[in-house]
Amino acid sequence: MAYLHFQDFLSHLESAGELKRVSESVSPNLEITEVANRVMKKPNGGEAILFENPTGFNIPVAINTMGSRKRMSMALGVDDYEEIANDISTLVKPEPPAGIMNKIRMLPRLSRLASSSPKAVSSGICQEIVEEGDAVDLTKIPVLKCWPDDGGAFITLPLVFTYDPETGKRNTGMYRIQIFDRNTTGMHWQLHKTGAEHYRKSESQGQKIHAAVALGGDPAIIFSALAPLPPNVDEMMFAGFLRRKPVSMVKCKTIDIQVPADCEMILEGYVDPFERRPEGPFGDHTGFYTLVEPYPVFHVTAVTHRKNPVYPCTIVGKPPMEDGWMGKAVERIFLPLVRMMVPELVDMNLPVEACFHNLAFVSIRKRYPGHAFKVMNALWGLGQLMFTKMIFVFDEEVDVQNIQECIWRIANNIDPERDMLLSKGPIDVLDHSSRAMGFGSKIGFDCTRKLPAEGYTREWPNVIEMSPEIVKRIDELWPKLGL
Ligand SMILES: Cc1cc2nc3c(=O)[nH]c(=O)nc-3n(C[C@H](O)[C@H](O)[C@H](O)COP(=O)(O)O)c2cc1C
Repeated sequence: MAYLHFQDFLSHLESAGELKRVSESVSPNLEITEVANRVMKKPNGGEAILFENPTGFNIPVAINTMGSRKRMSMALGVDDYEEIANDISTLVKPEPPAGIMNKIRMLPRLSRLASSSPKAVSSGICQEIVEEGDAVDLTKIPVLKCWPDDGGAFITLPLVFTYDPETGKRNTGMYRIQIFDRNTTGMHWQLHKTGAEHYRKSESQGQKIHAAVALGGDPAIIFSALAPLPPNVDEMMFAGFLRRKPVSMVKCKTIDIQVPADCEMILEGYVDPFERRPEGPFGDHTGFYTLVEPYPVFHVTAVTHRKNPVYPCTIVGKPPMEDGWMGKAVERIFLPLVRMMVPELVDMNLPVEACFHNLAFVSIRKRYPGHAFKVMNALWGLGQLMFTKMIFVFDEEVDVQNIQECIWRIANNIDPERDMLLSKGPIDVLDHSSRAMGFGSKIGFDCTRKLPAEGYTREWPNVIEMSPEIVKRIDELWPKLGL
């Protein structure tokens, strides 16, 4: 189902008992983080919180709205997000449906795709109030200073809209925004991200680039901004697919950019070529601070918002946090697309504790010598999986979602010298261990059963399993054993 807007989603969360209101005055300066962090660390992610009275502001703050499997699924309008993975699996099946009945069954899925395109509208709630020029004052928004050593307050759930200066194609990415003053901010599009590529192109033309930052909207739109879609796929089209309803887009007031009409708030503006300002430090996804780096500067020409907006945000820090639940949804929903490129892939687990891009456990249908190494190289060449620092490849029967099983197999199946592959390439900009920002080494381990052609001439032992007839007999006997 599609939500009308972010506050409609909050109402649904509240009806489902998933949202707690806090009427006590709690400050966006560190205090909201301390409360939210305690809640996010509860088993299964705690509850969403609406701070109705953030100290010093009259805009309520919503946090942890997608911070559990249930709320992440609700955000995407489904009982469980595996449903979306299944839908995508069917859509990307390589063989066309056989037989008339299967073709007919396919039609609703195809029409869902066809009706995903965003639609232009002439007005939207995000423009009920328009503040331009001197009226712009970002310090009126209850933006959190999240952690003690942060360089200031950061918008943590922003949807950044830009257009490719050469092709005119739109991109929406989630890049944090540090508030510098009333009308300027940082623009933290990292080196490898599409926003940064648009900016590089605008710089090479000596032009400024227009950008708009949207807050709120149907959470399917928010999720689409952080989803690792290929650069040429329009996130608003993907959002339309997820919510089964086109996203209504309205033109900004001061720049030629379309934004989702049903958002809580929009910042309109531009980024000048070659202008940089120190950005950070910021307590980041990794659980460490990212240090001060020069980043482009966003000049805000207008703030538009609905009459009574809510400010949606999150905090990041030592896992597990709300972003862990977003990342798990990405892992499951994108698995069928990864399988399109790497068909031998059975399953994939990017553990929350390793901040996703640092470590991957994958299982494959191994068919030939060196197959595990082929899969490592394929994953290192695939979209944002290029950031994966460590890949462990297992045989198909291994449950890679079971970390205990993975560690047991790793410890027993690896001859490090033979089974290790060292490589180099792009590394996530947030990684503080690499020799240079964004560049470093990777390692893969082949944890599969070895073949003679891989130099293994001994006999590979069987895993210990009890005989099925004994298991059955003891199952029957079990209630009588008093154990
Ligand atoms: C809460 C949150 C904050 C994020 N902050 C940033 C950021 O500041 N800079 C960045 O480049 N990516 C950030 N990301 C990751 C990007 O949103 C993600 O890689 C996305 O797929 C990028 O989109 P793009 O491929 O269109 O550039 C963040 C993700 C989340 C969930």
